[in-house]
Amino acid sequence: MAEIIETTLDRVRALERAVDVLTRGRPIALPTETVYGLAADATRADAIASIYEVKGRPRFNPLISHVSDMEMAARHGLFDPVSRRLAEAFWPGPLTLVVTRAPGATVHALATAGLDTLGLRMPAGFAREVIAAFGKPLAAPSANTSGRISPTMAAHVADDLGSAIDLILDAGPAGIGLESTIVKVENGRLRLLRPGGLDAADIETVAGQRLLRQDSAGATLEAPGMLASHYAPGAAVRLDATDVRPGEALIRFGGTALSGEAAAVIVLDLSPSGNLREAAANLFSYMKQADATGARTIAFSAIPSQGLGEAIRDRLERAAAPR
Ligand code: TXA
Ligand code: MG
Repeated sequence: MAEIIETTLDRVRALERAVDVLTRGRPIALPTETVYGLAADATRADAIASIYEVKGRPRFNPLISHVSDMEMAARHGLFDPVSRRLAEAFWPGPLTLVVTRAPGATVHALATAGLDTLGLRMPAGFAREVIAAFGKPLAAPSANTSGRISPTMAAHVADDLGSAIDLILDAGPAGIGLESTIVKVENGRLRLLRPGGLDAADIETVAGQRLLRQDSAGATLEAPGMLASHYAPGAAVRLDATDVRPGEALIRFGGTALSGEAAAVIVLDLSPSGNLREAAANLFSYMKQADATGARTIAFSAIPSQGLGEAIRDRLERAAAPR
């Protein structure tokens, strides 16, 4: 079973143990402000392979390389002026920038799936201290079995992967609760590859341009490896519900009661006051809580699509997709 260390109680030992496990080429569960990551040395093939093995990921998708400072970022990626401005404005934070690989970058091709680009993020909080102590970028997808709901608490990781890894760092619940927003500059235009924990409108303000959400053929842009069915609870998922059917669990938003909810298996409200930031932070743990009741279906009431609602709706649509 994995050792769990609370980072606020034992910061020094948490860093020492993390560096020790990472140096052996093994993955650790790393708290970031978005979700808990399964992190390993991004420069070592064996370390990256062990991430895929622990997650049971069917194929090698590109992973985000996490850095502790701008100097480390610039050793591995080439920053165009727009990407640099976004990094200065939003790092450390829930933004991943896909940039051209720098000559001499030592991030392993297994972490980039052989692409000549690289996803880079500087996370906030304890993750950043771990990377600084380790001195090399960490590749980290979310710390869950492939296809399942991302973990926002150390206990989620322990339940899912506790027997497969050596160390879980516990820094409390993730403050943002949704994975990072991913953007890429192409020919001077900014493309949204994944909506996430940073509001796309904030990115547009700093970049001084609109984000492209579709390619030239009109298809939705996506980061490679984004699966239609993802974030899947055991239960079926029904979106934009206006009532609750017998035997369903209800996850609602904004304090509005739905007809039939008195008979629901459980009723959870992502944000009774209608705050999308609060809703994002609660989303994954409420999905797990509703799923744990054994309800056959989880009904979700409508979530507004502006601001962080875009990312919340993206995750819900993946959770509801046919499996
Ligand atoms: O918040 C997050 O981003 C979390 C925490 C742990 O940092 N990580 C995360 O990783 O969500 P993961 O592996 O679930 O998602 C990484 C996404 C994938 O959809 C992948 O396709 C995209 O990043 N990505 C990575 N490198 C890329 C590249 N060079 N070009 C395009 N997309 C890339
Ligand atoms: Mg994931």
